[in-house]
Amino acid sequence: MTQAELADVIAARAPAKVNLYLHVLGRRADGYHLLDSLVVFAGEGDRIEAAAAEDLRLAVSGPFGADVPAGEDNLVLRAARALAAATGQPARGAIRLEKQLPVASGIGGGSADAAAVLRALVKLWNVSLADGELAGIALGLGADVPMCLHGRPVFVGGIGEDIAEAPALPACALVLANPRIPLPTPQVFRGRTGPFSASGRFEATPRDAAALAELLARRGNDLTAAAIALVPEVATVLDALSTTPGVLLARMSGSGATCFGLCADLPAAQAAAGVLADQHPGWWIAAADIVA
Ligand code: C5P
Repeated sequence: MTQAELADVIAARAPAKVNLYLHVLGRRADGYHLLDSLVVFAGEGDRIEAAAAEDLRLAVSGPFGADVPAGEDNLVLRAARALAAATGQPARGAIRLEKQLPVASGIGGGSADAAAVLRALVKLWNVSLADGELAGIALGLGADVPMCLHGRPVFVGGIGEDIAEAPALPACALVLANPRIPLPTPQVFRGRTGPFSASGRFEATPRDAAALAELLARRGNDLTAAAIALVPEVATVLDALSTTPGVLLARMSGSGATCFGLCADLPAAQAAAGVLADQHPGWWIAAADIVA
């Protein structure tokens, strides 16, 4: 009996993806941008479950469930169909998505869900893929999906497909804050102006969270100005984070509007989240570990 038949339900976590820095190195002829980014995954995220079924269906729940497009364009359903096509399987499964993360918010929500459903269906269908094949399917779904298959700190290059393990990071934690205003990624990339950046990769593990914050302060998120031009509240979120006790560095993740504060540990991140939630009751705020 296969693992899938033994287990009624395959569960997979879809952690929030956070770009600790994000440099834009250039732009390809097709309009996609060449990136250099240090990406980590938070102990906070969406949850996927997949169970055997006669057809393919998706049930969405959770605080941001209503914001998920439910039609055929849904990235979870597209991921299931792409895996089925690549492996010659019928696209079958009852998929549940518990949406804990805000959508269109720079922390990879849809991409993380797609990566998680790929991992869950590989187990449910008991299929094996050649090296790199799953990453290829992931890239076909979106530039952020391959990195979300990893779930550990990685340097990301190319348009998102070139993934290399990052050095171990010191103990630290994150407070995430989002003004609940969606920010579509293509518009942010289109609005970016100015010169391209150099790579910000590094080799040695910073000795502690403060040293990591110092190192990151010498890098940046090159999409910040373009995001603020579209949603000025991003600047308010960054200001609020940077003046919250315990936050060592405040920065936007991805194309925004979610921003993060780097903290020394989870209790510091939780305390910062409490302060921010009091001041900004309308924002989505979460404290989270970084998955090592
Ligand atoms: O690949 P995905 O559909 O997630 O990307 C959404 C949009 O973000 C792209 O259509 C493109 O406009 C922009 N993008 C980019 N460079 C990247 C990733 C995304 O310009 N590396």
